[in-house]
Amino acid sequence: MSSVDSQQRILSGMRPTGKLHLGHYHGVLKNWVKLQHEFECFFFVADWHALTTQYDDPSGIEQSVWDMVVDWLAAGVNPGSSTMFIQSQVPEHAELHLLLSMITPLGWLERIPTYKDQQEKLREKDLATYGFLGYPLLQSADILLYRAGKVPVGADQVSHVEITREIARRFNHIYGREPGFEDLAEAAIVKMGKKNAKLYRSLKKRYQEEGSTEALEIARALLKEQQNISLGDRERLYGYIEGGGKVILPEPQPLLTPESKMPGLDGQKMSKSYNNYIGLREDRDSVAQKVRTMQTDPQRVRRTDPGEPEKCPVWGMHKVYSDEATCAWVQDGCRSAGIGCLECKTPLIEAIVEEQKPLHERAKEYEDNPDLVYSILQEGREHARDAARDTLEEVREAMGLGYR
Ligand code: TRP
Ligand code: SF4
Repeated sequence: MSSVDSQQRILSGMRPTGKLHLGHYHGVLKNWVKLQHEFECFFFVADWHALTTQYDDPSGIEQSVWDMVVDWLAAGVNPGSSTMFIQSQVPEHAELHLLLSMITPLGWLERIPTYKDQQEKLREKDLATYGFLGYPLLQSADILLYRAGKVPVGADQVSHVEITREIARRFNHIYGREPGFEDLAEAAIVKMGKKNAKLYRSLKKRYQEEGSTEALEIARALLKEQQNISLGDRERLYGYIEGGGKVILPEPQPLLTPESKMPGLDGQKMSKSYNNYIGLREDRDSVAQKVRTMQTDPQRVRRTDPGEPEKCPVWGMHKVYSDEATCAWVQDGCRSAGIGCLECKTPLIEAIVEEQKPLHERAKEYEDNPDLVYSILQEGREHARDAARDTLEEVREAMGLGYR
């Protein structure tokens, strides 16, 4: 069985909400594209999560899954570097969710802020369901199934990573305490050889007595290097540093996604629900049309009225797209009424269209060859399942279900 380097492994998911927009591109997607070169990445479509709120009308989900995956590919998520798959095609997510549900106190789920918030926000829906309460636990299963050390998410999802950590800790505490754990751990230390054993002991002491996270990290790195101990011993020693049992499910850390600076057409956050967005793959005419009709500084009624860029959402977009010279031109021209608003918008339209060109090109290839997308998802699914099965095998064993 292969040993997993959790700190190198990243997992993130998105609910299929349909076509993505430039806010997603400048926030989440560019981040994913960057991460895929630095980590082992798993990106998946959380279609079961979509069902928790759309169970009454799932008809749009399939098309949304499709559109979203093509958007990912268009944005540059590379199937050669990242594993891309659909959650419902890896049923192991459901099994782990079920197993974890056995140890999850109801109160933990009820007190997660998104639970009540979303129920209030989506008043028209009946979300007093079992599935919706379990939303964060399903997310925990998504993460723990791959033993991902880092989870890129927006600020709104941090509480879900936090409960994942609590679940992992509880799981390890309950099931990582095999009989004779301490003796096994002590025996494992000896197997590392004198020098390493001594180092491990002193780091463990430093961590336990002084809470030094540096010591914790060095100790983990030391264990990672060990060639002559088994996977089981390694997990025991990971857990033993902290005084607990074996680490079967490592605790993940949230990796906060940098906030997108891309404002919506009205200056608010770009969002589908505000209908103030420009699609990731919107065509040229429609981009131009949307920008041309964007609100500007409301004080600037006539062409001869001077304006204030800080009060204008167009300026917010210039800050994302334009170079210094253009920005200076906007600021001066606006404040002196030297340029008109349509004039001001022209370089912006060009910049957006230019940015989208390679996205359109990549997307076209996939739209012309849907089979290409199927096979990427098929391969992703196989790879994801292999990783998932390794974890589940250990989880089943730990929970006393290791029989065949
Ligand atoms: N709940 C996340 C969202 O709405 C999507 C998601 C599901 C997810 N499972 C995940 C994100 C696992 C990160 C890791 O954005
Ligand atoms: Fe906005 Fe540009 Fe018009 Fe000034 S000139 S109000 S920044 S669109």
